[in-house]
Amino acid sequence: MRPPLQPNRDTDNTLLAVENVSLRFGGVKALTGVSFDIRKGEIRAIIGPNGAGKTSMLNCINGFYHPTDGRIIFKGEMRRKMRPHVAARGGIARTFQNVALFKSMSTLDNIMVGRSLKMKAGFFWQLLRYGPAIEEEVAHRKVVEDIIDFLQIPHIRRTPVGRLPYGLQKRVELGRALAMEPDLLLLDEPMAGMNLEEKEDMARFIIEVNQQFGTTVALIEHDMSVVMDLSDRVVVLEYGRKIADGTPEQVKSDARVIDAYLGVAH
Ligand SMILES: Nc1ncnc2c1ncn2[C@@H]1O[C@H](COP(=O)(O)OP(=O)(O)OP(=O)(O)O)[C@@H](O)[C@H]1O
Ligand SMILES: [Mg+2]
Repeated sequence: MRPPLQPNRDTDNTLLAVENVSLRFGGVKALTGVSFDIRKGEIRAIIGPNGAGKTSMLNCINGFYHPTDGRIIFKGEMRRKMRPHVAARGGIARTFQNVALFKSMSTLDNIMVGRSLKMKAGFFWQLLRYGPAIEEEVAHRKVVEDIIDFLQIPHIRRTPVGRLPYGLQKRVELGRALAMEPDLLLLDEPMAGMNLEEKEDMARFIIEVNQQFGTTVALIEHDMSVVMDLSDRVVVLEYGRKIADGTPEQVKSDARVIDAYLGVAH
């Protein structure tokens, strides 16, 4: 168990603030008046039963959806109708509940796609493999190779990701997000469908990313033991509303959380 962060009233420590966010799809209220913050350097878990609005929340944070009401403030700036590529350039990277990679492309090329956001040379020059683009690509490739080493996947760097077992695909997807060198890394069920060993590996990588690179992490996860071990603070959603927010210890013993989530098999 990680030591809990000290209570902090210093607003400079807030990387992202979700304020009173609601999201509706026609008659469906995916989120209703949700507020919470993510502090710089922490691992923040978002938990809750199926359909609670967890993925919708991440989609609002990275601009896939725009809240019907409320606002999201990232690095002190309000983000209104921010598009996903703008969020990515601003330092928000994510992985998806269902792995979203180019299946016929290699591990290396998939991670390079994440890196392309950082490349200055235009797509046209990259296609022509012209002077500055080549130099730039060499430098970026080095970063990508470092990520591949960090994630201990050099043996699959040339393998089309569609041929990899699911657990490794999830790791490649993490690599693609890391290639953006994000300030805030959003992970939607990074360990879903993994066996115990794969889960332990993924947990270790998440902790190392957080500690070595200082990356702030927000993750959705159903495995409560993982949540308890990894996260500094946990926000709990149910039917689109926040029902608890606190340290893993506080949340674990909250009666509403036990009723809503922990007491029932997922
Ligand atoms: N694009 C959409 N159009 C219509 N309804 C949506 C859309 N996205 C999400 N919803 C609805 O919003 C609610 C919250 O869904 P969401 O996917 O955010 O839940 P979740 O907590 O991530 O669930 P799970 O644990 O199953 O992944 C659900 O009722 C869902 O059907
Ligand atoms: Mg989801």
